[in-house]
Amino acid sequence: MSYSATDGPAPYSTADPTSFGYSTARTRWPIIVTGVVDDLSRAVFQHGPAKSKVEEGCAIIETLQNLKTEILAVTQLCRLADDGSAEITSYNEELVALGQPTWHDSPWLFCECYLFKRISTCFSLSEHWKDYDGFMNQKMSTFKSSQPAVAELAARYKALVSSLEKDDAAVVQAGEEIIFKEIFEICLWGNATDLSLLTNLTYEDIQKLQGSEARKAAETNILVNDLPQVYEKLKRAQGAGTSSRVDIVLDNSGFELYVDLLLAGYLLSSGLAREVVFHPKNIPWFVSDVTPVDFEAIMGVLAHPAIFFGSSRDDSLSEDLSFLSTQMESFRQEGRLSLRTSSFWTLPCGFAALPRADPELFSELRTSQLVIFKGDLNYRKLTGDRAWDPVTPFVQAITARAPSGKVGPQQQQQGEGKAEKVQASSVADLNVLALRTCKADVVVGLLSGRDEELRAATDPQYAALPTGTGGPRKWAWSGKWAVIQFSQAR
Ligand code: F6P
Ligand code: MG
Repeated sequence: MSYSATDGPAPYSTADPTSFGYSTARTRWPIIVTGVVDDLSRAVFQHGPAKSKVEEGCAIIETLQNLKTEILAVTQLCRLADDGSAEITSYNEELVALGQPTWHDSPWLFCECYLFKRISTCFSLSEHWKDYDGFMNQKMSTFKSSQPAVAELAARYKALVSSLEKDDAAVVQAGEEIIFKEIFEICLWGNATDLSLLTNLTYEDIQKLQGSEARKAAETNILVNDLPQVYEKLKRAQGAGTSSRVDIVLDNSGFELYVDLLLAGYLLSSGLAREVVFHPKNIPWFVSDVTPVDFEAIMGVLAHPAIFFGSSRDDSLSEDLSFLSTQMESFRQEGRLSLRTSSFWTLPCGFAALPRADPELFSELRTSQLVIFKGDLNYRKLTGDRAWDPVTPFVQAITARAPSGKVGPQQQQQGEGKAEKVQASSVADLNVLALRTCKADVVVGLLSGRDEELRAATDPQYAALPTGTGGPRKWAWSGKWAVIQFSQAR
């Protein structure tokens, strides 16, 4: 099937000099591959004398270096070697459908997913390094540098949940809706901490983004905020005794996963949800995305913070985190907090393909009160990463016609025969909430004139451009602006 066969404007391309994909492909991808080479070089060196493992590690380093050369030399994308994973066929079929494009002239979304799947196969095809995650050290060390914000939030979370448990009038007075909004906004801005952007941001920049002062200041940078509708929906369900499942399609590990856990804990403690299901990636993805291994690692940090952050004289961090950790572990034991994996999340397609690519996952998500899609990549996939007019309603952008034809292994196994029924379905049949800081070109649902204002304020050359040509949407690349967009299931 061709992923480019759905309705709507053209997808962003790495050939378009006004797109963020253009500089991403030329500058950021080679840096990202170099990061994996450096990490693996250290791991091989540390590994010492096990000869076969060292030799294999060196061979992977060479393969990764060749990959970097391919990107810089602008070769055509080659077929992915079959490592037995579910997504390989979809990638290779799409490569054919796209006519074997080059790194610098390819749909940005497809090509970027291809890059990370390709890095993954360098390891998965090996004997000794199958499960090695070349981004793991980066993910954990950035989390370590988030300690001040982790401590601040752990203390506030404990106080909040303790008041909820006591049915504290203070919570009611403070205004439940204000607290709801604050927790969701903490969860939103947690997405600004993205390692793939570290090629542009310093650790200090990131720490500044995490503090409460920064969050307050950033409120006005939320361009669309549908949280009142979401609050009303969850409250109504709670009042009717029907509050049940909330799904969180995770994005990044480290600090962002930490705030996702706070959100889950708040929803479960307040009774706004009975069950929270997390959706991580099966493989290392877009540098910092959560895998099940990352999830367990962060749970381990919560349980033993002194080992990870180093012991300090002030042991309130340990106490506050141990409160969170105990609570999360008991939710897990009760089956109220769980992980659900699917190879769908690491396919190169937009989410218009969900009903056909993984019908089982789609029908599960249809039972959810709210499916929260975290971050930029999920937003790009929701909207097909297409050059929509920025005033296009969110619901229209996510209702793009599902592609026809074969889209993945699950569909082959379970979807045949159901084709007619699922064809009419779309992600707009889910209760979708996007919590996204903008780090790419696509954006929808803006008020008329807002995009032009932001372009004029952030791009000195904008005023000189001929009317209607637009130029690059630079304001949307830095993670400084955000959208919270909700679409009620049809
Ligand atoms: O724009 C930079 C980028 O790496 C995009 O390629 C990608 O969409 C995004 O950041 C990843 O961000 P997030 O972790 O929020 O999905
Ligand atoms: Mg990510």
